[in-house]
Amino acid sequence: MDTTTNLTDPMNLAETLQSLRTDSVARIGAAADIESLDAIAAAAVGRESPIAAARRGLGSMPPEERRDAGRLINEVAKEIEATVAARREELVAQERAVAIAGEAIDVTVDYSRLPNGRLHVIQQVLDEVCDIFVGLGYRIAEGPEAELGWYNFDALNTPPDHPGRLESDTMYLDYGNPEDEMLLRAHTSPVQARYMEAHEPPVYIVAPGKAYRNDTVDATHLPVFHQIEGLAVDESITFSDLKGTLAEFARQFFGPDTHVRMRPHFFPFTEPSAELDVSCFNCDGGESSCRVCRGVGWLEMLGCGMVDPAVFTAVGYDPDAVTGFAFGMGVERLAMVRHGIDSIRHFVDNDVRFLDQFPG
Ligand code: DAH
Repeated sequence: MDTTTNLTDPMNLAETLQSLRTDSVARIGAAADIESLDAIAAAAVGRESPIAAARRGLGSMPPEERRDAGRLINEVAKEIEATVAARREELVAQERAVAIAGEAIDVTVDYSRLPNGRLHVIQQVLDEVCDIFVGLGYRIAEGPEAELGWYNFDALNTPPDHPGRLESDTMYLDYGNPEDEMLLRAHTSPVQARYMEAHEPPVYIVAPGKAYRNDTVDATHLPVFHQIEGLAVDESITFSDLKGTLAEFARQFFGPDTHVRMRPHFFPFTEPSAELDVSCFNCDGGESSCRVCRGVGWLEMLGCGMVDPAVFTAVGYDPDAVTGFAFGMGVERLAMVRHGIDSIRHFVDNDVRFLDQFPG
């Protein structure tokens, strides 16, 4: 717009305002956002605008023209302002609509095919074994992984010169003074001692958890692994109860046709002690080429025995009043046998292609 036009001339003024009006209304309608709308409004009716200039020129007009000119200026200014206000409302509504659309959440989207996490196969086996014993009336007990030498060895009738007590076998946190040795428990058996110390008989518990040994990793050893300990103490528990309980466990875990056999063994905390084998669930003892038992027909499963009276004495029980049995099994071993897994390392490699095979 030509701002040099003499706006005190009524003809010029009318023409200028007319084209300002048409021009502004068109530009306001085309303003794409509030910022450009503000710029257009300032240029049309702001302090530096032709409207302001025209108002300033009113004073130098002849009085008889001044009123009409003033009215015209106001009329045009009002119309432009009203158009700006209307366009502003439109733009605000538009911007809000865009914002709402951008933040919208489609609650109908189907997320069910996202991959779910699941329990590790070792946890699954732990849970399953515990469930079987809970079904037989046992309770779950737990103990610390950082354990005193007393509970890991002495209370369990393990003499000071037992090879398991060597620093080369057990992971010690504090080694040397037999009075307050601290170690990472080498088995879950110390939970037996802790539980009996804190509870009166009868006792029927299983204790699942981690155990630690200074072993080099190979196909069947990990320095951190899992065990489930079992302990039953009551007035007249016999070796038959031990065998019957473990046979029932084997049938529930490996299948109803599973048989068990016991071989004499030695553990410091049980007398007599045994190792329990289960009949091979794959070939039932019939096939020399069986990949599970390699033709032996039996699978070595766990250690067990009748609680040694010395253990009862150590925890404050009267060895003449109660008898009991105990057993301890390796969870990784159970899982390997059950699923035909050839290396214990798979459990800690965290390869989803392995883990996905155990959906639980
Ligand atoms: N604690 C033994 C181990 O780690 C397993 C074991 C054997 C536990 C006999 C028992 C038992 O309770 O009676 O090799």
